[in-house]
Amino acid sequence: MASKLRTPLCDLLGMEYPIFLAGMAVGGIQETAPTPIKLVAAVSNAGGLGVLGDSFRTLDEMDEGIKELKKLTNGRPYGVDFLLPATRADVTATSNKEVFEQILKEYPGHVAVMKEIIKQEGLEEAEVSEGEPMSTDLLKRKIEVVLDNKVPVFAAATGEPPEWFTERGHQMGMQFIGMCGAVRHAERQVAANVDIITAQGTEAGGHTGNISTFVLVPQIVRAISPKPVLAAGGIGSGRHVAASLALGAQGVWVGTAFLASEETNIPEDHQNQILSGRSEQFTTSKFSSGKQQRSFHNLVKDAWVESGLPALPMPLQGILMEPMTQAAKKIGRWDLVGNPSGQVSGMLSERRPAKTILMEMVDEAEETIESMQGNLKY
Ligand SMILES: Cc1cc2nc3c(=O)[nH]c(=O)nc-3n(C[C@H](O)[C@H](O)[C@H](O)COP(=O)(O)O)c2cc1C
Repeated sequence: MASKLRTPLCDLLGMEYPIFLAGMAVGGIQETAPTPIKLVAAVSNAGGLGVLGDSFRTLDEMDEGIKELKKLTNGRPYGVDFLLPATRADVTATSNKEVFEQILKEYPGHVAVMKEIIKQEGLEEAEVSEGEPMSTDLLKRKIEVVLDNKVPVFAAATGEPPEWFTERGHQMGMQFIGMCGAVRHAERQVAANVDIITAQGTEAGGHTGNISTFVLVPQIVRAISPKPVLAAGGIGSGRHVAASLALGAQGVWVGTAFLASEETNIPEDHQNQILSGRSEQFTTSKFSSGKQQRSFHNLVKDAWVESGLPALPMPLQGILMEPMTQAAKKIGRWDLVGNPSGQVSGMLSERRPAKTILMEMVDEAEETIESMQGNLKY
């Protein structure tokens, strides 16, 4: 029997259940990626749709990863996601090291705060990583990799609608998902021909806005109907899935709850924060990346607030922090690193296979919908 959760979006994308693994990426080595290929494939093969977080992969890593994913998913739908920030510093330097040299000259106050944390915590200052900073040119080359590989679904976060390539993508049958934290973002994405809107509430892990999921989803549904909407932020159970459908969403975009899976590669300390932290310990700050991000609270966030300095724009803030974050990662001090995770962590306590996480959501959502009908007969 077909699942009660089947929505028109399932037919559009060829999924069994309207549950997406959010594309998640954090800077640094791929060995600690939140959405490694094996997790993305596990979600797609279980009947959901896995999305690969490709923000920090090189072009070659992206290309290889997508080809491997295609093999592992064997015709099932999958997606690729990377950040397309609407506002970012205009970077012309071609290496992170070069950008850091400029930061040393232009923002000595910010550098002093970062170095003070290194001193206080007894860290050995690390080198800024090799690699290319985010720039319009790099983003365009990444988009070519997505198009060359005929990726079925492309998702973009942090604001800029991918209008540079929606037309070309649509000609090849691609579907586009745009992440939004406010109604005006959703209207902009729809105007740029994006097909599916993710309404992401503030409770979400990672970059996030200030409006809660409960308030945001029905507003976006009303504003852009009949375009399909995904609910995101704080979804960790079947009850949340049922509630999202009740709010008018056609599916859910789940991040943190899949970081409690066996297939993610996040460091054990990050996973333990999720499995044992309380919801109020997952706070927002701009000091990891330059944009507001929700992660486990730590002393680095406090130090920046005490400094009274504003965060630098993306990607400068992340590069500024590298001598400290790379040093902390090298010795396993994950408590000093911004580990993106959402408020839903407060209700997650067990590490399980991704398929189990997904199927429990499906079963509980179906039971919830049925029991609601029972409760409403009086
Ligand atoms: C570790 C982590 C990394 C993330 N990285 C990205 C990213 O690279 N691109 C993106 O679109 N969203 C990213 N997000 C946000 C997710 O796509 C998603 O919207 C969010 O996790 C949903 O809220 P939840 O964590 O409460 O499920 C990230 C979230 C987390 C927790």
